[in-house]
Amino acid sequence: MNVLSRSGAASVPSGAAALYRSLAAWYVRMRGGIFLMSVAAGVLAGLVRAGNPFVAWIAGVLFGWPGVLGASVGQLIGAWAVQGSFLASLGLAVSVALSGSVAFLVFCHVPGIGRGLPTLRSYIWFLLGAMLGGLLTAFGVSVVLGGFPGPRFWNGAAEGLIAVLLLGPPMLLGADRYLRRWMEPIPGEKPARRPRLLTAAPASVLTGLDTGGQETVALSMRSQTGGRRVLLVGIALVLGLTLAAVPLSVLLPRGGSWAVLLYVIPILWFGNQYGLRGGVLAASASGLFYLFGASWISVAGFGDGVDVWSRCADLVILSLVGAFVGRSREHEVRMRDELADSNRLLRRDLLRVAQALTQAVEAKDSYTEGHLRRVSEYAVAVGSRLGLRGKDLEMIHYASMLHDIGKIGIPEEILRKRGPLTEVEAEVMRRHADIGARLLEKLDLLRDAAPIVRAHQERFDGAMDETRYPGYPMGLRGDDIPLGARIIAVVDAFDAMTTTRPYRAALPADAAVAELRRQSGRQFDPRVVDAFIDELAERPWVREESWH
Ligand SMILES: [Fe+2]
Repeated sequence: MNVLSRSGAASVPSGAAALYRSLAAWYVRMRGGIFLMSVAAGVLAGLVRAGNPFVAWIAGVLFGWPGVLGASVGQLIGAWAVQGSFLASLGLAVSVALSGSVAFLVFCHVPGIGRGLPTLRSYIWFLLGAMLGGLLTAFGVSVVLGGFPGPRFWNGAAEGLIAVLLLGPPMLLGADRYLRRWMEPIPGEKPARRPRLLTAAPASVLTGLDTGGQETVALSMRSQTGGRRVLLVGIALVLGLTLAAVPLSVLLPRGGSWAVLLYVIPILWFGNQYGLRGGVLAASASGLFYLFGASWISVAGFGDGVDVWSRCADLVILSLVGAFVGRSREHEVRMRDELADSNRLLRRDLLRVAQALTQAVEAKDSYTEGHLRRVSEYAVAVGSRLGLRGKDLEMIHYASMLHDIGKIGIPEEILRKRGPLTEVEAEVMRRHADIGARLLEKLDLLRDAAPIVRAHQERFDGAMDETRYPGYPMGLRGDDIPLGARIIAVVDAFDAMTTTRPYRAALPADAAVAELRRQSGRQFDPRVVDAFIDELAERPWVREESWH
């Protein structure tokens, strides 16, 4: 058993023991620590602003019935100390209990919302709960103290709403993050997400080449976590603009109305950067400064007689702006992330299809294993060196992998023939560039690679009558040949020269480089040759010498 039973079942009469035990059980059930803490907060609220529902509201939302009861008991004690009337204080305590109860019931019974304000729906219900709770408390207070339905009711309702609107979101979000284990569990509550910075990570194209080109991450657009610098900029915006609003609203004619615009700017900014919760939190912070500024202006005698309801309307609008802007930004970023994800999957599969086709060509032709992978790696590296980026580089990647895909349509006896081809055979062989290009033209994603594939056998000088390596199929020259095709021509030739074939030995790399230099300006583009030689100097050509 426990302390209770040791404290003396023998010496305490059985009726008292039962009462004692039931009180202890009640205390545990009501989660005593939370209850006492709520009482303390309620006392403070009763002393400072009797009849304001905020403490009961937040205690109810976070801690459920022990919170509501504690805050109301505290309100009773605090208000009693100030008012001197027990009955009136009891009335105030019941009034604030209404607000706390409504708030808790809303979060308990509306499906798909959460106290960490994970969705716009949660925010709207937070606002509705605050409004309804504020009205109920104001009604109770004005009935108890007299004055319903006069200014006491309306001002009380506005004050209650303002307090919840400004202090509620930071406390809800803070508690959701740090006090979860103390909060009253609500079955089926929608969990809050981690705060994210909604700007995209820089897009990267064609990473993963170091791992042999197995994976291509075409786009990485995920929104990031963190972002301390962004947060500091936002805080500076809130402080700077809200402080600037005070003198402006005094100096300009009807400046008070215009100054509200200055409060909107940091809210828009935060909503754009951090989504709904960022927008709502910024609205809370700006709203507090707004109230301080407005009070200072009134106290200093500059006030233009704006009543509490106008202030309340301004604050509700600011908060709604934050919530809606933040939510639409979140929506946009989620769409973008999903699109980037499906794009990435699509491109990964495209790459796998391209690799399968590549292997089909390698199996048919007498290439060494990995020829096309090596060529594509170096082609991309050279393209990057020549300043190509993004989609252009991606197309060079695919075109270099698939440049000989047209050989699928060439008879194997021609492809594998040892020794020189006859003129007829050479004519058949030359068709592979066009066959490959026409194949790629049929695919939307690879259409831009088709001109590169078609022109990969062209010569830089445009010579079609060159006996050993004539340019084909169109006799293009110079910059008329797509840059990707000029790059593939160089890298492919280097790989061919340094490969041992059944009918000839491989050239050493130095000799192959010398041959590239000799053909620079004739068969090959000099800029491409130079870039390729620079690349080779940094990353020596590695090959596997296994045969298919
Ligand atoms: Fe070719």
